[in-house]
Amino acid sequence: MPRYFIQTYGCQMNVRDSEIIAGQLEALGYQAASTEAEADLIVVNTCAVRGTAEDHAFGYIGALKQRKDERSDLRLLVAGCMVQEPNTVAWLRRYAPHVDVVVGTHNLHRLPELLREAEERQEMLVEVWKEPGDVVEHLPSRRPEGVQAFVNIIYGCDKFCTFCIVPFTRGKERSREPKHIVREVEALVEAGYQDITLLGQNVNSYGHDLNPPTDLADLLASLERVEGVRWLRFTTSHPRDFSQKLIDTIAASDKISHQIHLPVQSGANTILKRMNRKYTREQYLDLVERIRQAIPDVTLTTDIIVGFPGESEGEFAETLSLVEAVRYDSAFTFLYSARAGTPAARWESRDPVPESVKRERLNRLMELQYQISWENNQRWVGKTVLAVVEGVSKKNEAMWTARTQHNKVVLLPRQAELSLLHRFVPVKVTEAKTFYLVGEQAGEPLPSPASPMRRALPVL
Ligand code: SAH
Ligand code: SF4
Ligand code: F3S
Repeated sequence: MPRYFIQTYGCQMNVRDSEIIAGQLEALGYQAASTEAEADLIVVNTCAVRGTAEDHAFGYIGALKQRKDERSDLRLLVAGCMVQEPNTVAWLRRYAPHVDVVVGTHNLHRLPELLREAEERQEMLVEVWKEPGDVVEHLPSRRPEGVQAFVNIIYGCDKFCTFCIVPFTRGKERSREPKHIVREVEALVEAGYQDITLLGQNVNSYGHDLNPPTDLADLLASLERVEGVRWLRFTTSHPRDFSQKLIDTIAASDKISHQIHLPVQSGANTILKRMNRKYTREQYLDLVERIRQAIPDVTLTTDIIVGFPGESEGEFAETLSLVEAVRYDSAFTFLYSARAGTPAARWESRDPVPESVKRERLNRLMELQYQISWENNQRWVGKTVLAVVEGVSKKNEAMWTARTQHNKVVLLPRQAELSLLHRFVPVKVTEAKTFYLVGEQAGEPLPSPASPMRRALPVL
């Protein structure tokens, strides 16, 4: 059987796309390779969100030339968000003619067809749709073993933040019909999955484009009713569309995660306006206040961009003061990266923040956030929490790494005689660090769902 290897860059949506690529390849008779060297087909699933993500993919694709030189029957396929940019395709044609197939984000379902067509051609086969077609349901997919699964609920993004490439690479917002999502979650539960993460660039917009329209709160309510679902998470939330109804739905539920990822990007109204984020600092803080009031134990996380074109020291100071006011549990912090074709990229050429200033600001922001993360984590010490074991800790092989419903990573000691992998375990937290908690097992793991079919088949 031919073997495939997938290298994935970018966000959870790309991870989910890679599962669909894998499912389609397995339906064609391929098998997963454990290393790149063993593979007969290598897929690079790219991300375009920042220059660094692109550089990694370009470097990886370039390095594959040598593998192809050594083995001419090796097949190379490039997919993902970078492919939607005309410049990438031009680069591939010029510098990476060793690539066999290039497939865009809107026509991933065409992959089997394209692989077949490519067999009859000498030169690179490129198929990239500029616009998305209808949502394609029922593609085979290969999810990882375990109890955690990603489920797409909305594709694309209509927000057009001025710094962001995603609306160009993923197209306009398209929601999946609730019945398809509910059926997928039912099938997942049947296969033993219990910790479900709903995905979209902007999950709060879910359902507005459907007929009849619906929303995320109603979708969550129907998913909660699926028997066997233990935890429901969702990401990412745009602050503008975060409704009171959604807050109340989360507050009333013991299944929906009390962690909310709420990217703020900047604390200065002037920058937020130029970013086209469509909320003010005050509106954001008011939303945080309402969330905290309804869900007192909520953990809040965020994304922040440092060095947006023209960002002054005063504007940056407002980001620091917002971080101090909100006291996030953690923050992903990014250096602004100009994306060709976006409005901010034009401003960057006129009014960039010098690289050294960007880096110095990023360091100050990270230092502040790390201190707050450490302080916030202390409140877990002494508490007993349920956590799902994800694997052996990469840092310390003597420990399991697990995740709580509040999305906190907690490490607990491994006992040789007992595998807790993929189990939900009560953990007593004994210590809190900046990025994770440490604890010990405080009771029996919850019973595993026993299903003979479990993990035997890819979920359709
Ligand atoms: N849809 C999500 C974000 C998706 S991209 C949202 O709106 O919240 C993930 C994060 O990457 C963004 O939140 C932003 O902080 C960062 N990002 C996006 N474009 C960027 C750019 N051009 N430079 C630096 N960071 C960027
Ligand atoms: Fe990008 Fe803004 Fe859409 Fe998020 S909401 S994907 S940051 S355009
Ligand atoms: Fe990257 Fe595309 Fe996700 S640009 S962040 S892989 S939507």
